[in-house]
Amino acid sequence: MTRSALDPSTEATIAELLEAMTLDEKASLTAGVGLWYLPPVARLGVPALKVSDGPSGVRGDSLIGRRSLSLPCGMTIGSTWNTALVGRLGEALAAEAVSKGVHVLLGPTVCIVRTPLAGRTFESYSEDPLLTARLAVAYVEGVQGQGVACCIKHFACNDQEFERMTISAEVDERTLREIHLPAFEAAVKEAGVWAVMTAYNRLNGTYCGEQPDLIAGVLRGEWDFDGLVMSDWFGTHSTVPAALAGLDLEMPGPAAWFADKLADAVRVGSVDETVVDEKVRHLLRLMGRVGILGGEPADGGAAGGVASGAEREEDSPERRAVARQVVIEGTVLLSNHALLPLDPAAVRSVAVIGPNAGVLEAGGGSSEVTPHRRRRFFEAVAERLPGASVVHEVGCRIDKELPTIDVSLVAVASGAGSGGSGSGGSGFSVEYFDNTGFEGEPVATEVAHLARLTWVGQVWPGLAAADASVRVKGWFTPDVGGAWRLGLESAGRSVCRVNGEVVIDNSDPQRGSGFYGAGSTLVEVERELAAGRTYTLEVDVWPRSSSWPVLGLRLAADRPAVADEFERAVAAARAADVAVVVVGSNRTWESEGFDRPDLSLPGRQRELVEAVIEANPRTVVIINAGSPVEMAWADAAGAVLVPWYPGEEGADALADMLIGVAEPSGRLSVTMPRAIEDTPAFGWYPGAEGKVVYGEGVFVGYRHYDSRDVAPRFPFGHGLGYTTFDYRGVEVEAGSGSESGSGSVRVRVALGNTGGRAGREVVQCYVRALDPVVPRPDRELAGFAKLEVGAGEEASAVIELNDAAFSRWDETTH
Ligand code: BGC
Repeated sequence: MTRSALDPSTEATIAELLEAMTLDEKASLTAGVGLWYLPPVARLGVPALKVSDGPSGVRGDSLIGRRSLSLPCGMTIGSTWNTALVGRLGEALAAEAVSKGVHVLLGPTVCIVRTPLAGRTFESYSEDPLLTARLAVAYVEGVQGQGVACCIKHFACNDQEFERMTISAEVDERTLREIHLPAFEAAVKEAGVWAVMTAYNRLNGTYCGEQPDLIAGVLRGEWDFDGLVMSDWFGTHSTVPAALAGLDLEMPGPAAWFADKLADAVRVGSVDETVVDEKVRHLLRLMGRVGILGGEPADGGAAGGVASGAEREEDSPERRAVARQVVIEGTVLLSNHALLPLDPAAVRSVAVIGPNAGVLEAGGGSSEVTPHRRRRFFEAVAERLPGASVVHEVGCRIDKELPTIDVSLVAVASGAGSGGSGSGGSGFSVEYFDNTGFEGEPVATEVAHLARLTWVGQVWPGLAAADASVRVKGWFTPDVGGAWRLGLESAGRSVCRVNGEVVIDNSDPQRGSGFYGAGSTLVEVERELAAGRTYTLEVDVWPRSSSWPVLGLRLAADRPAVADEFERAVAAARAADVAVVVVGSNRTWESEGFDRPDLSLPGRQRELVEAVIEANPRTVVIINAGSPVEMAWADAAGAVLVPWYPGEEGADALADMLIGVAEPSGRLSVTMPRAIEDTPAFGWYPGAEGKVVYGEGVFVGYRHYDSRDVAPRFPFGHGLGYTTFDYRGVEVEAGSGSESGSGSVRVRVALGNTGGRAGREVVQCYVRALDPVVPRPDRELAGFAKLEVGAGEEASAVIELNDAAFSRWDETTH
């Protein structure tokens, strides 16, 4: 897909619409309505545009857990080094978007991993600009090729969560151009991305949403971007400066700065009406591209099906297969002392251990989606080893707060009231009342597949949160007996009943921090519950006042404490042929809104891994986290696998990789450091007095480790497989007749698979400047190719390097 020029008739339609709209109608299109929609202009047949997060699935407009395919996170995608596969992932995402009636997917996230402590590292692809750019182009082309827009984010330098809404990234021009902007540039110039989201933070003192150099100068001026620029949610800070800098759309609604205020600014002469026209032109152009203007699909894509507001929960085997392949190709085998793959015929017993060995975790924040399935990893392992005994031990717990109840233990209460086993799958039934006191019959009902539910503005179309009450019901069957800790926090007043008895009374809530600042503190109790018995759970939530805007609840439940769970896990490892330990992190440690405190695995996980390895050297360690972690034990482990946050296909993909049905073929897209002191931004991050200086300059990631001689735990680009490769020669020739221009170079690498099975290798090509006139990294990734080669066969990788591969930013020529 190239730059998406619109056909002349659509441009003509846009011109006619602009001509026909009043100033107020045009201004209304510069701000959202609620979280995910734009207003329509019904009079002129302009429909309501719908946007959705993104980027690891498509959530739709519900914050109560409508299901969609939960895809691997950005780090897993980054580790694939496979642009063709990421293109297919983009197509799957577009299909997901269509199923949710979504026109604009809020992704990909292409900020560069500057510090591994950043809370959103898992959403990004890499510490390298070229790898990020190539994958971003593939992702955007995949999505947009199906007629759904991408909104690439966060432009620019949203590289930490500490003070994310205000901090100023202080970055010199060369560092911006060589490291932090190339992925955005490639997405604009090569993939023709249709929308860009500005970052929360400031860049060199000015909020990104009102940064004229960035939006008007670089994005529109230099890169010729003709699409839509929207703010991050609540990231608009002014009317006139933001409007003049080039921001087109304030999200979400109701508007704080644009819409009516922008119309007023035109009326008093601070903004010219042509500025508003331009913004609306960008929006209408986007609507034309996704096929909702004039009812015609943009280029024969799937957009024709998008216009409906109805959301479907489609569980598609084809998309699931793509997701699983991304996990397999994005899982990095860091080390393997002849332990993997396991031979199913020889393994008699396996101990599957660890806080993440049940349902694999994901990162938190806006990228979270509710999966179709919550597959338990130890069950996926047991299925593949029918002749072996497979035991599961938690070992230790890593919850920062009382964990949200395991929804797979809760069945949708399909009838009113009393217990029994649910027939509607896992989750809760939700009843909406059109009064604040649960009077009469509910006016609407639906099913929620989450235990953390939020309603902003309205709880149901036409029913304001302030005028409603909501009852949530499920049948809870504990998997273990004993003293469970139950907890409830809410936006609004709430109570929780178990078998009809009020066990938590949060009707006079204390102010907490969740639910966009409208939440209460968590109220906790302890209750004896029996394993296998079904209890009715009911939570009522209602507004605190007659103008209350947000309702929400989080129902928490922690299994009874087991005094010797650590020792039991170690004993199980000792008794088994093989131990598999799944450690890592979760949404309470890695999320937007906060950074990680350090590189360590939360809780007693390091101790657990060390004790298990000591008890049984045949231990596979799996790291289910979204960013690099400290792993002093790495050399002692039998094998180490890193799938990152792999999404809902992760459990089966990993089980397949353990027994060799699939080969992990990921390569690190970030360096695994030994200690935080070794990382490039150490000393600069997190900044002070509202500023974070990018003092490492262009020496980000491996550029730092190489040039400064700092030994990483595992280097960028590293990753093993289940076969061996022999590099049989490298030829470098001047390219001819290629698109890449006169200075292009073609590198051909011959590769032999010397092992006994087919496998994948990533050929990586780096360049180094000889006698550079400014300090340059020892090596810079210039190109790569991923090849699949049969056992005993040979193949060639051909990597084209264009001028840009050898260039650096030179202030004097700009
Ligand atoms: C995030 C964005 C996201 C938006 C909408 C913000 O908090 O930074 O990435 O798209 O919310 O959910």
